[in-house]
Amino acid sequence: MKGSKKSSKIVVANWKMNPQSLEDARGLFSSIKREVKKVKGVSVIVCPPFVYLEDLSKKIEKGITIGAQDVFWENSGPFTGEVGPTMERDLGISYVIVGHSERRVLGDTDEIVSKKVFSSVKDGLTVILCVGETERDEHGNYLETLKNQIKNSLAKFSKRYLNNLIIAYEPVWAIGKSEKEAMTGPELHGMFIFVRKVLSDMYGQEEVKKVPILYGGSVGSSNASNIVSEGQVQGLLVGRQSLDSENFREILKMVEKL
Ligand code: PGA
Repeated sequence: MKGSKKSSKIVVANWKMNPQSLEDARGLFSSIKREVKKVKGVSVIVCPPFVYLEDLSKKIEKGITIGAQDVFWENSGPFTGEVGPTMERDLGISYVIVGHSERRVLGDTDEIVSKKVFSSVKDGLTVILCVGETERDEHGNYLETLKNQIKNSLAKFSKRYLNNLIIAYEPVWAIGKSEKEAMTGPELHGMFIFVRKVLSDMYGQEEVKKVPILYGGSVGSSNASNIVSEGQVQGLLVGRQSLDSENFREILKMVEKL
């Protein structure tokens, strides 16, 4: 999976706080797995709630793996309710989403995100780091905000872990909306270049070529193809539409063709 990261497209399924039972999680995972078998050149990372990780991590196959939706920055100690990177690694998990806007709203500052990113990569996890502006303004200040968010979220990160980094650019204003309200491919391409430039200035142009940049925010079968082809991103982070295996299959089919 890791080796194919550069060439194949990546589609992350972020289930958020769904579904409500292990049985349903198993059912959804099996249906997604069936669809993944039919497509080529797409690596799927399903991120279910913590409680289903152990069970589903035993069911992974070629082309589909499991990731966590969050992680704590310490590995043990008096941190009630938290789960550390070593515990996730111990389940055989290699991916973790860090800094999702829904976690940031609940209190994850850039500093916390940076600590989570660093502990995770140090422990061998590949981080899917979510970044994105909350809103836009006509003066373009959101670009500065985004740049600072990227820099601060990676404040503790070091270049030697670049193989363990995936960026998910998710403009917060486009999350949880209709597909029509998502960013379009051409609009996204400018942002893709911007994010890559910020990373290049930090780590070097050649080095950051290996960091996949994904898009997330109201992706569905009607816009997946335009977003990936015109946006020229390496893949997608899909929320709601990953809870319906038929919709998810359509997205995978679109991405496969590109
Ligand atoms: P959405 O969620 O696809 O439901 O908009 C995306 C996300 O929050 O990552």
